[in-house]
Amino acid sequence: MDASVTLAVTLSLVVAVAVSQVSCRRVTNAQILGFDWKNCGQPDAPAVLKTLSVSPDPITIPGDLKASASGSTSVELAAPLALNVTLEKEVAGFWVKIPCVEELGSCHYQDVCDLLNQLIPPGQDCPEPLHTYGLPCRCPFKDGSYSLPQSDFYLPYMDLPYWLTNGNYRVQGVLGSQGKELGCLKVALSIHSD
Ligand SMILES: *[C@@H]1O[C@H](CO)[C@@H](O)[C@H](O)[C@H]1NC(C)=O
Repeated sequence: MDASVTLAVTLSLVVAVAVSQVSCRRVTNAQILGFDWKNCGQPDAPAVLKTLSVSPDPITIPGDLKASASGSTSVELAAPLALNVTLEKEVAGFWVKIPCVEELGSCHYQDVCDLLNQLIPPGQDCPEPLHTYGLPCRCPFKDGSYSLPQSDFYLPYMDLPYWLTNGNYRVQGVLGSQGKELGCLKVALSIHSD
């Protein structure tokens, strides 16, 4: 998955969390520890993330975060772009799949392009820091390489879904179009809040 898609999807999830006030709890001080990632597609997958670095470790919410990323896609990523997310939590040594609740969790999104258009209406500038670096935030994403130099982000107070409790999580995202897998990314992290 290319860097801008990853960022855009992350952004959309964060916004979705913020918007879905129902069955959420206010998090006043949370930490994200041990962030790790890897590609999980075929060796010849068209879309791959090449680098992704996030600091500090742990990341605190609310708090500042630095991130940089780069990736490439050998095919244009255009609508409809399906995304299957699998979110798992470690419970007593086993990985348990968290179902899709209110568009969050292990969900199938029919078209990420459509979601992006809803979040950032066409005609509107892409959010920073994408705008500064001329990175796209809506489909189509042309084939080629993308890179986001190290940038500062602020993670505000946010409402997390009630099921997002302390523990170890892993999430896999598979991006596809017209029955073909385009890329796959796995992320692992731990959440701790008081
Ligand atoms: C998503 O999951 C559905 C149902 O299992 C499957 O038909 C589809 O091909 C998957 N799409 C991707 C992009 O993996």
